[in-house]
Amino acid sequence: MTTTITVIPGDGIGPDIIAATVDILNAAGCDFAYEYADAGLTALEKTGELLPQSTLDAIARNRATLKGPLTTPVGEGFTSINVSLRKQFELYANVRPVKSFKGTQARYENIDIITVRENTEGMYSGLGQVVSDDGSEAQALSKITRTGAERIVRFAYELARREGRQKVTTVHKANILKSTSGLFLKVAREVAAEYPDIQSDEMIVDAVCMKLVMNPEQFDVIVTTNLFGDILSDLCAGLVGGLGMAPGANIGENSAIFEAVHGSAPDIAGQNIANPTSVILAAIQMLEYLEMPEPAARILAALTDVIASGDRTTRDLGGNGSTTDFTAAVIERL
Ligand code: NAI
Ligand code: MG
Repeated sequence: MTTTITVIPGDGIGPDIIAATVDILNAAGCDFAYEYADAGLTALEKTGELLPQSTLDAIARNRATLKGPLTTPVGEGFTSINVSLRKQFELYANVRPVKSFKGTQARYENIDIITVRENTEGMYSGLGQVVSDDGSEAQALSKITRTGAERIVRFAYELARREGRQKVTTVHKANILKSTSGLFLKVAREVAAEYPDIQSDEMIVDAVCMKLVMNPEQFDVIVTTNLFGDILSDLCAGLVGGLGMAPGANIGENSAIFEAVHGSAPDIAGQNIANPTSVILAAIQMLEYLEMPEPAARILAALTDVIASGDRTTRDLGGNGSTTDFTAAVIERL
């Protein structure tokens, strides 16, 4: 049966790397129909809105959305489109896998970490933002709920079980943030007890930063609150060669949006030199989400092979290929 995917090409390098990825999905024999929609600067120019209702409808209609990076205009009172999407569709889980690929200049060779970040609460809930009239004091509220903590920790354990992972590490700062991080940790321990088949570990966020840099191979699945997850997942991307190698999924009960972690890269837009890897990896995440493991594994094997051989990869990976050369090389290996 044909599955319809919402595709948002996005801004800057977005249309190139999304087109590359759609070509690869088709070459892998995925039975998809694509419903194209605009968001970001592209949508603003066409419709006067960054996130048109028709795009929201398309995301709501289909089980999965593949999204290119979007440019949020700075200093014109626009709120981040990504934050709006997370709120609108209650995409509570931000899943960011990083993996070592041979043929990159990354420092480590055996990294395979998934960060599961709570995407709606914590320091980013936007609550209680106050700046005193004279500008000398500022406050913001962090809010953790039992429901929010439980669903993200459970999500992490279910993912670990489904993917045959060994260990889930809960990352917190409950020694200092006794109320919020304390509740998160308490709930995490309760959920962990329901998964005796998975090893459970807990660690304080600052220690995790040190250990990720010194010995990242010890980590498997990490689950944490919004702010810590934002920072740790970028740190993890750096361990495997940067944002060009890192995909992310935003998953809720009824919708899921798969994207690259990097932005629209206006400095290299329109030159056919962007590295499509992050979006290809996001598409692989999407295939796994849609329970299509066969094409997911095949695309990953082809991509791994092309990156390892090196010659037709993009410049940021040390190759001298264009986006289309890179894509053609992946398709040939399928
Ligand atoms: P960026 O990630 O677009 O670029 C940072 C640097 O990495 C640039 O030098 C760029 O050329 C390079 N780069 C990024 N992706 C690459 C790729 N696939 N291949 C090769 N090189 C790549 O971050 P920047 O410049 O801070 O943001 C640009 C725009 O993107 C902004 O408008 C920002 O709001 C937006 N943005 C959107 C995101 C999203 O939609 N998920 C995430 C981050 C930023
Ligand atoms: Mg971030």
